[in-house]
Amino acid sequence: MAKFGNVQVKKCGFSPSPLCLNALIDDKKPIRISGMNSTTTVGAESLMAAIAQRRSMGLSRMSDAPVPQELIETMLEAANWAPSHKDTEPWRFTIFSGEGRGHLADFFEAAYRSDHAEPMDPVALQGYRDRAFAAPVWIAIAMEPGRDSAGNPLVPEIEEVMAVSGAVLNLHLMASSLGLAGMWHSKGVSVHPAVAAGLGLREPRYLLGFFMLGWPNCEWMSGERRPIMDKVRWVTE
Ligand SMILES: Cc1cc2nc3c(=O)[nH]c(=O)nc-3n(C[C@H](O)[C@H](O)[C@H](O)COP(=O)(O)O)c2cc1C
Repeated sequence: MAKFGNVQVKKCGFSPSPLCLNALIDDKKPIRISGMNSTTTVGAESLMAAIAQRRSMGLSRMSDAPVPQELIETMLEAANWAPSHKDTEPWRFTIFSGEGRGHLADFFEAAYRSDHAEPMDPVALQGYRDRAFAAPVWIAIAMEPGRDSAGNPLVPEIEEVMAVSGAVLNLHLMASSLGLAGMWHSKGVSVHPAVAAGLGLREPRYLLGFFMLGWPNCEWMSGERRPIMDKVRWVTE
């Protein structure tokens, strides 16, 4: 499984190795955890490294090398540990890979057709189809709200979306930790009603986008954030 350790390798180009996680440790930016003793620090530092080195890397940063199913299953297992109010576990995933992406191409084509009148541009239409093959793996992200026995929602819809978001973050953290490039895409065809229909998603179930996944074809990217203290207020007395 994932080992972060202290090995510091900065390059993480395409690699068939599932565990190029060591590349995720950036020696120029040591992450300090204060207020903890030495026993807890090791795990906390690894976790902080995994969090800070998670990156969104889209289609242009992925090779077309296939991703082993076991790695995708590991990501899904991580996703499944997300919290949800009333334990509704509303996250639903559909994985498209290999020839299965042909079905996704059909959905993307349906999206194009629903937005355009005849005569359609065959090149543009083919572009929509080709998109499905631009990543080795596409994971459709859906939300299925929990219901009580009378069919009423157990929690407000927004809480279900929050829970799915936590699941996708877990999935993304695991992807990055495995050295995989990935990104949550949430606009255009990724949330198109025709694509949702193709996936069999009807209200109250929602399509919240796709997680595109593959091996990086470039160096691992670094991230940046504005300081947390600019976003925090302390109330202590
Ligand atoms: C809910 C959600 C939806 C997103 N949708 C898109 C998208 O449609 N297109 C895109 O380029 N990036 C999308 N992103 C990725 C963000 O742009 C990215 O997370 C942000 O730039 C920070 O980069 P990082 O993830 O590498 O830290 C999305 C991220 C989240 C959390």
